[in-house]
Amino acid sequence: MKSPITELLHTEYTKPDAYNALSMPVYNSAAYEFESAEQMELAFTGKTADFAYSRISNPTVQYFEDRVKAITGAASVTALNSGMAAISNAIITIAKSGSNIVTSRHLFGNTYSFFASTLAAFGVETRFCDLTNADETEAQIDENTCALFLEIITNPQMEVADLNALSVICKAKNIPLVADTTIIPFTVFKAKDFGVDIELVSSTKYISGGATSLGGLIVDYGTFDWLSSPKLHVLAKDSGNMAFTVKLKKEIHRNLGAYMTPQVAYMQTLGLETMDLRYSKATKTCFELVTKLSELPQISSVNYNGLSANKFHSLAVSQFGATPGAMFTFNLASREACFAFLNKLKLIKRATNLFDNKSLAIHPASTIYGNFTAEMRKAMNVSDCTIRISVGLEDAADLFEDFLQAL
Ligand SMILES: Cc1ncc(COP(=O)(O)O)c(C=O)c1O
Repeated sequence: MKSPITELLHTEYTKPDAYNALSMPVYNSAAYEFESAEQMELAFTGKTADFAYSRISNPTVQYFEDRVKAITGAASVTALNSGMAAISNAIITIAKSGSNIVTSRHLFGNTYSFFASTLAAFGVETRFCDLTNADETEAQIDENTCALFLEIITNPQMEVADLNALSVICKAKNIPLVADTTIIPFTVFKAKDFGVDIELVSSTKYISGGATSLGGLIVDYGTFDWLSSPKLHVLAKDSGNMAFTVKLKKEIHRNLGAYMTPQVAYMQTLGLETMDLRYSKATKTCFELVTKLSELPQISSVNYNGLSANKFHSLAVSQFGATPGAMFTFNLASREACFAFLNKLKLIKRATNLFDNKSLAIHPASTIYGNFTAEMRKAMNVSDCTIRISVGLEDAADLFEDFLQAL
């Protein structure tokens, strides 16, 4: 058995390339020609795997999906044009009017807004609870619950739920565990081993290889029996554990039209090759930096799951390894102090996004959550005193120096 990285690098093309290209060519074509009407019918009715139209499938994008399959061991992978497209397509595949989703208020801003506003308008209820409390979580689930959704490390609260405990609840209640795993790459965090049925990733982050492009992935492990799903139970009679992917690929993603473009798939295929290396360097730097920062009197608290004093340390380390991610937050005395710090930075960029090769700093309360009311921010534990840092590939000493001069 080869290592997942070797497996990934040597993923075979479905058809040999006409020129033996070592990099998958960018098939920048909207449509594909057929030799006969019969062949065309077979392709359109799904009886052959020939490509017909690039909103539905494309050779370059499929190769990217195949590489993700090789590294995750998933039953099926679908690549979309952003992390939000992956989240929305996946949830729309599972949810219907009258059904509900159980999740936490600790969510990325657009994910929260997708649940609380976009889905609510279509009659899908979202039940927000404390996912670190098993009893409270279980009490929210009923016969109309179509999924339990979570982010594996919440951003910016850095909360970590016990995935094994949530998986036990999901199995007992026959609902799929759907996880946004963007914060830890799948070379390190093996979602399937923790009972995750559907994994969602913003490939804009670690995978894209230096913030080159937006992208999202829906990874179906084929582990859930959709016979108990409020929406997919009929389809599951024929398609079994693949009912989710059948619904997604044959209906939802083609109707919503947010498939990944071939240029992006090309960049992200290359990004995948170095993801593990970049992650390993960035998380080591992150650990070194937070260790030094936590000793500074000017900073009231440094929130990183890799620090032994962190509330979620042992759980995070058991689920995500010794250096869980390259993102941390810290608090200063006030919003004004945060703005002053950000304005003085010389090396670290004032920017949103995560896991660029450059380190990035942001004040989440006034930006990502800037359009939420103060009450909502309080309910989501997004503080005015918090700054979020995404650690890149710079040297830890250089980043520390920038912190010192800005503080
Ligand atoms: C945890 C998480 N999930 C999803 C997203 C959305 O990803 P995208 O910006 O690629 O749509 C983000 C974006 O920052 C995120 O941090």
